[in-house]
Amino acid sequence: MLRYLRHAPQLWASEVNEAVVARVAPQPGETAMDIGAGTGAGTIPAAKRGCTVVAVEPTPYMRRVLTLRSALSRVQDNVRIVDGTAETTTVSFGSIDAAWAVNTMHHWTSLDDGIAELVRVLAPGGRLLLVDEDFDDPTHPDYESFGAKRTEAHSHHFHTVDPRAAASALEAAGAAVSFAGLDQIAGRPAIVIEGRA
Ligand SMILES: C[S@@+](CC[C@H](N)C(=O)[O-])C[C@H]1O[C@@H](n2cnc3c(N)ncnc32)[C@H](O)[C@@H]1O
Repeated sequence: MLRYLRHAPQLWASEVNEAVVARVAPQPGETAMDIGAGTGAGTIPAAKRGCTVVAVEPTPYMRRVLTLRSALSRVQDNVRIVDGTAETTTVSFGSIDAAWAVNTMHHWTSLDDGIAELVRVLAPGGRLLLVDEDFDDPTHPDYESFGAKRTEAHSHHFHTVDPRAAASALEAAGAAVSFAGLDQIAGRPAIVIEGRA
């Protein structure tokens, strides 16, 4: 909790989340999924677009904040908060039109299992966008404050994701990959994996 409190401003709202939601573009009537939703930096703007958002989040503290925030933002009817992980979402097969994950892949216990699970829950043609900011890139604005503390971060189970491994996992799960590599999201260097079920 204390560790997350230090990053509270970025977890509350972030241009990266706004850009990811805009790129996935969930539409009214669609069911979207925010994997590792945190306190809702992607979930809330997506719900405001009029879609239903399934917010999958394993940390009880994050789910409590997100529950309160959804109510305060008056989008609680559009948000379904689920106690789950990327590897085990507990969401029904083929029920999701669009899914994204921001700055959570580095926490997953298994990238392969997470990606297989996401492809399982996506409807045919469903969009998937996975983004981890690249804190190892010296041009990242948080490189000095976070990237330089990588040793400490590693001790908290921070695994840098290999986009090629993610692309292979997506293809192995039967999805089509349109991009897997390094890119800029909202002006920040990021590891980006994009595809469709
Ligand atoms: C740095 S926060 C990012 C939250 C949010 N996506 C954002 O961009 O503000 C990482 C989140 O991943 C969640 N998380 C940890 N392990 C996870 C897993 N295996 N699957 C999904 N989410 C996980 C944490 O509970 C936390 O809320």
